[in-house]
Amino acid sequence: MNAEDRPTWLSVDLDAVAFNFHVAKTAVGDSCQIRPVIKADAYGLGAIPVARRLRQEGVGGFCVALVEEAVALREAGIQESMVVMSGFSPALTEKVVAYRLEPFLTRAEYGLAVSQRVSGSTVVPVYLKVDTGMGRLGVPLDQAVAVYDSWTRFEGIHVVGVVSHLACADDPDNPETDRQIKRFASLVETLRQRNPDLVASLSNSAGIMAHPGAHFDWVRPGVMLYGGSPLYPHTHWQALGLRQTIHWVSHIVQIQNLSAGRSLGYGHTFTVQRVSRIAWISVGYGDGYNRHLSNRGAVVVGGVRCPVVGRVCMDLIGVDVTDVPTACAGDPVALLGGDAPRMVALDEMAQWLDTLSYEVSCAIGQRVPRRY
Ligand SMILES: Cc1ncc(COP(=O)(O)O)c(C=O)c1O
Repeated sequence: MNAEDRPTWLSVDLDAVAFNFHVAKTAVGDSCQIRPVIKADAYGLGAIPVARRLRQEGVGGFCVALVEEAVALREAGIQESMVVMSGFSPALTEKVVAYRLEPFLTRAEYGLAVSQRVSGSTVVPVYLKVDTGMGRLGVPLDQAVAVYDSWTRFEGIHVVGVVSHLACADDPDNPETDRQIKRFASLVETLRQRNPDLVASLSNSAGIMAHPGAHFDWVRPGVMLYGGSPLYPHTHWQALGLRQTIHWVSHIVQIQNLSAGRSLGYGHTFTVQRVSRIAWISVGYGDGYNRHLSNRGAVVVGGVRCPVVGRVCMDLIGVDVTDVPTACAGDPVALLGGDAPRMVALDEMAQWLDTLSYEVSCAIGQRVPRRY
């Protein structure tokens, strides 16, 4: 660390991301391709470094949500096949052609609209996205075959595959997943009578780990690559054999000795019950350390779990380090990650916030430098 650097950063363990990729690989077997989902800056870890690391592991391409995410990756030299899952509209066709992207087409009218924007001998590879139960994006299941047939008549597009998304795969007991798999499998069978080379993709991380029948030709893991359990709280990340990939580190700026009965922070929401040492740490909601962690979160100082006390500020949090008598200004603090068994896992912070690990890592702000 340079003396002028703010002592707060996100350390990203790319080897752990690669390790988690191989957990997915083992689950799906050699006949199924993996196209990691690196949208939203690889869930906050950094899409370009993650892509550069994972391309060494034998990916079948990458998935992003938006055309601009794909463009940034292309401009960084990522040449693998690039699927755009949800942020495509025909007005973006020129960019899709220029950057050799493969969009999911989610509406029937998009086939003609894209084909009309393509010139000369250019052919855009597209995926027919079908709604098999998510009720979100996609052509309705009962129209999918007719839409496919109409799209095969248009010049300038080539339907390379059919895709859908699972709604309830994170809950292994939810019967909807099997129903979705059956609907999708039946559609794939029908379409393959028209084109035996058509490829099919249905699974996210939860489908990969909990539903072998949902694997088809290629899968789209996101959260599991980054160390979050896609089956939380039913199955924890350790039980899936995943590794934590991020360590969010900060440092103690100052320690306050407070006598019993003193209150601290904005709104005085915490009053110390004993003579206490309160460490102020250089992180806050301006960095994505969620304000709902006020009087709820915990960090690790000197190998000891210490509670967050008082309100999370924009640039600082207070932590009770009374039980770590050696703690002093300048000491490191693990906000996320750290060493087992005291570590704060992504899923645990998500649980404190009543959310998912996805949101925790995505929320870590750009003010926090990433180190790889
Ligand atoms: C269409 C689609 N496929 C795959 C994924 C990856 O999901 P997960 O992070 O649960 O593996 C997402 C993420 O939201 C998605 O929207």
